[in-house]
Amino acid sequence: MNQTVSQGVPLNAPAYVKNAKLIAWVADIAALTQAKDVYWCDGTEEEYNRFCGQLVAAGSFKKLNPELRPNSYLAVTDPSDVARVEDRTFICSDRKEDAGPTNNWCEPAEMRAKLQTGEGALFKGCMKGRTMYVVPFSMGPLGSPIAHIGVELSDSAYVAVNMKLMTRMGKGVIDVLGADGEFVPCVHTVGAPLEAGQKDSVWPCNPTVKYIVHYPSTREIWSYGSGYGGNALLGKKCFALRIASTMGRDQGWLAEHMLLLGVTDPQGKKSHIAAAFPSACGKTNFSMLIPPEGYNGWKVTTIGDDIAWIKPGADGRLYAINPEAGYFGVAPGTNDLTNHNCMQSVLRDTIFTNVALTDDGDIWWEGMTDTPPAHLVDWQGKDWTPQIAKETGAKAAHPNARFTVAATNNPALDPEWDNPAGVAIDAFIFGGRRSTTVPLVTEARDWTEGVYMAATMGSETTAAAFGAQGVVRRDPFAMLPFMGYNMSDYFQHWLDVGAKLQKAGHQTPPVYCVNWFRKGADGKFVWPGYGENMRVLEWILGRIAGTAKGVDNAFGLSPTYEEINWNGLNFTKEQFQSVIGIDTAAWTQELKLHDELFQQLSYHLPTEMPATKAKIEQRLAA
Ligand code: GTP
Ligand code: SPV
Ligand code: MN
Repeated sequence: MNQTVSQGVPLNAPAYVKNAKLIAWVADIAALTQAKDVYWCDGTEEEYNRFCGQLVAAGSFKKLNPELRPNSYLAVTDPSDVARVEDRTFICSDRKEDAGPTNNWCEPAEMRAKLQTGEGALFKGCMKGRTMYVVPFSMGPLGSPIAHIGVELSDSAYVAVNMKLMTRMGKGVIDVLGADGEFVPCVHTVGAPLEAGQKDSVWPCNPTVKYIVHYPSTREIWSYGSGYGGNALLGKKCFALRIASTMGRDQGWLAEHMLLLGVTDPQGKKSHIAAAFPSACGKTNFSMLIPPEGYNGWKVTTIGDDIAWIKPGADGRLYAINPEAGYFGVAPGTNDLTNHNCMQSVLRDTIFTNVALTDDGDIWWEGMTDTPPAHLVDWQGKDWTPQIAKETGAKAAHPNARFTVAATNNPALDPEWDNPAGVAIDAFIFGGRRSTTVPLVTEARDWTEGVYMAATMGSETTAAAFGAQGVVRRDPFAMLPFMGYNMSDYFQHWLDVGAKLQKAGHQTPPVYCVNWFRKGADGKFVWPGYGENMRVLEWILGRIAGTAKGVDNAFGLSPTYEEINWNGLNFTKEQFQSVIGIDTAAWTQELKLHDELFQQLSYHLPTEMPATKAKIEQRLAA
């Protein structure tokens, strides 16, 4: 044990920690935050169980009925701390232009004064009365050449146990780090110091002050005031997307908000798909898809459900890994019919956050069963009955309630999910949540049109972020909240990655745009979605194999009714037309929104963007 004391805080570093830079940094942060003590996570099962026990004793966790939901817990949060806070998220690049118009920017020195150095800086003394957990984690298989290491210092035991499920966490990471390995430093506090004798709340956070801050040039993350999801589990959006996207730009690879799935046909041929959908728009569901009846011999397997790191291989193909090791997935709407594999995954060993508690010590959320239980305790600790819900509109679970579970619990886990080499991508899919306008599926004519489709994607906002819901906003590449640099430069980076492959004589993967969410006059989804999305996936594979032809439209190439396999589904030609059709008036309107986006992004906007738009306009007019 390292006996160093940093301004009154004993460091307690185990003897196996050899990295001087890490120890010095931990000492600095302990001194700054004035944590009560420092605990180094080893990532063992024993440690996980001990922390969960402490969280139960503190009233932060409720242990669920072990007969119904073994080894599982429920946490409920402060009502102010239920989702990512996009307006409190900052990219502090050296120059404002490098954060770009889609990010909040603040001059690094100014932000550092506010957080670390100035008078009354937020992190000064912010961990008083709390333990500071040192959480070493690897994004990607331990020791793999494509993985990167981070260390999160957090005063939240909830964060430590979630990181254990979501990443490769613990002593093994310290060993890989060795004496002089590099790591991304991530500092996290709930922003609620405890004075002597002060009673802690069950969900400590700062209800009014939150900062989620990234310094791309020094690759640092500082998070203040929230304990929830992407605000606090810093390996996920902060590191694996915002910081990693800048690493990818500098090093020639891509960090994307994409699921990764394997699909095997009855002949045993396996393909791999990377698909980007905005938050709460269907990634977890698509990655765990079960082919419907009539699809005998087909199999879909999960590599990842949220993030992909993609690198060009020596053979000219794009190889992807899932940097995560678990799922932090949306609970509401998940059930045995829509996502059986997910329900199987969360049968045990799961942390649930902001779902409802049943009288027998299990959990429930909207959409889990057709008939809700007669009585529940809702996510805010209040009595809930179907009658109360009818009268007050109260939700049993928060719409952004989530489960945290290790990937190894997923019965559909792909055998390659942990392969350090990754899987070769056969197609990219981009999909927003749109009630109107955007067709069920279109194929881009080439890489540039694919980049255009992804760049101009719009989607209705969801409960995954704090703020208004159901508002259509442009969400380029489903990365709007997760871009670590200038969005236009990112479009250029995508164009460059494709151009480089093509120049070397390789083919770029085809790009598709999908929309599961078009609604009919009755306000209901027309497309049945979920497992039935297999029919779209099969058409895409048919296009790759050259068996499906498709028809040209203004916005790409779409299937005819006859080209889709309808075996086992009653879906009329009229219904199909209503989800696949291109409405000229709606598209004229839509292109105006693309224009607005391009005006906002005019700095460094690749000329390919307006040029592609002009071609679409010509086709629309024809
Ligand atoms: P993040 O974890 O926030 O990045 O979300 P995600 O993209 O993984 O979304 P997820 O798969 O968890 O789905 C979010 C919501 O969309 C859930 O309530 C699902 O039930 C619903 N959903 C998913 N797929 C479909 C679909 O094909 N059709 C319809 N109508 N709803 C879907
Ligand atoms: C998302 O919002 O896209 C998520 C959940 O995956 S969170 O980790 O909170 O960002
Ligand atoms: Mn996500």
